Amino acid sequence: MPFNHNDHYHPLLLRQVPTGCRRALDVGCGTGRFARRLAARGVEVDALDPAREVIEAARSAPPAPGSGTVRFEQVDITRAELPARHYDFISCLASLHHVPFDTVTKLRAALAPGGVLAVLGCYREEWPMDAPFSLLAVPVNAVMRLATAATERVTGQPKSPQETVVAPVARPSTTLREIRDSASRLLPGSTVRRLLFWRYLLVFREAATR
Ligand SMILES: C[S@@+](CC[C@H](N)C(=O)[O-])C[C@H]1O[C@@H](n2cnc3c(N)ncnc32)[C@H](O)[C@@H]1O
Repeated sequence: MPFNHNDHYHPLLLRQVPTGCRRALDVGCGTGRFARRLAARGVEVDALDPAREVIEAARSAPPAPGSGTVRFEQVDITRAELPARHYDFISCLASLHHVPFDTVTKLRAALAPGGVLAVLGCYREEWPMDAPFSLLAVPVNAVMRLATAATERVTGQPKSPQETVVAPVARPSTTLREIRDSASRLLPGSTVRRLLFWRYLLVFREAATR
């Protein structure tokens, strides 16, 4: 598999999972790699994606090694009925830009008290403010791709059936500036941090009592 920007940030996202997390929702789960990592930590995960092919691939993967389970559902988040105040952790990895940003309001309502929403997001680059970051990312990205290719050649691991299925992608239409504005309005107290590989990390923690 080539160097994958979303998978690269899995450890960062896992660090946002609150202590004692029991129930999680992964929105736009693709073939389920992150959902399975959550389940490996003993979490019960609902993983949603509207794309039939990726959900079928996700369901066909071997179960996560930990004590948690993943329930994959073919659902569009904008149409999904989410239980109120239910999830300790909600993640969106490279999927929020597929839907209107204010979908975060719906996700917030599904957070249990003290729950965390973590968005690994994509943004539309603006010239010239984003240019220095992109220029820095290009050579680092090239090195990471070469390192990934070399590792694969050495280990010689064949692709699993899930890895041959490509999740749908979309071009982001919202700039980082607009995302920061919307986040401060819809998710007061949230943080939005720029990450190197054309991504940002938004973290919102719901109050422990509401
Ligand atoms: C770039 S892929 C990322 C997949 C996965 N999160 C990952 O990190 O590999 C974006 C995913 O968002 C999903 N998606 C698109 N529209 C969606 C919607 N309305 N509700 C939920 N997921 C959606 C796509 O089907 C796709 O699997």
